[in-house]
Amino acid sequence: MKKLIDNATISRIAIFASGRGSNAEKIIDYFKDNSSVEVSIILTNRKDAKVLDLAQKYSIPSLITTKREFYHSDIITKNLAKYNIDLIVLAGFLWLIPSYLVNSYPKKILNIHPALLPKYGGKGMYGMNVHKAVHKDGENETGITIHYVNERYDDGAIIFQAACAIDKQDSPEDIATKVLALEHQYLPKIIEQILRKN
Ligand code: GRF
Repeated sequence: MKKLIDNATISRIAIFASGRGSNAEKIIDYFKDNSSVEVSIILTNRKDAKVLDLAQKYSIPSLITTKREFYHSDIITKNLAKYNIDLIVLAGFLWLIPSYLVNSYPKKILNIHPALLPKYGGKGMYGMNVHKAVHKDGENETGITIHYVNERYDDGAIIFQAACAIDKQDSPEDIATKVLALEHQYLPKIIEQILRKN
């Protein structure tokens, strides 16, 4: 899937995101001066997703998909092939990835989850739901998990985890802030490491 252009191998990333896209922006920014890595397409399932503003800001092609297209057509596969995508990064993408995509991109789809899996993962465990559950349980640490994606929510092999302490007075919002800082710190670097290994 890698293309040889002027003797340089370019790795092409597709970012799938459903929301504001702060992780997407960190990835775009991290690789913007790297001539061998390109964020080639941003896919979202929401036409009002803030991540679409980023696509426009950075002149990255974007695709808004529907459930029918995503689960029952070859539109996504065709687009990923069109842009020679090497790696798919789920950065706050809320839909389950269908088998046809998992099978077409073995060990080439990553997700970032805002907790230390296997705790606080699975269906419905996204965004503030995660941080509220961690807070309710009185955990004294939480963190991030970057993992490969399979057909189940938050279940694929773990690639990387980083933890942060939770103070007694931390609210769910404080926990979210700490976790997001870890995501921003590590996600682009882990992507870079994975691309180097491939
Ligand atoms: C992040 O917390 C990520 O772990 C989760 O969704 C959130 C996305 O945030 N999967 P953003 O859209 O990147 O700001």
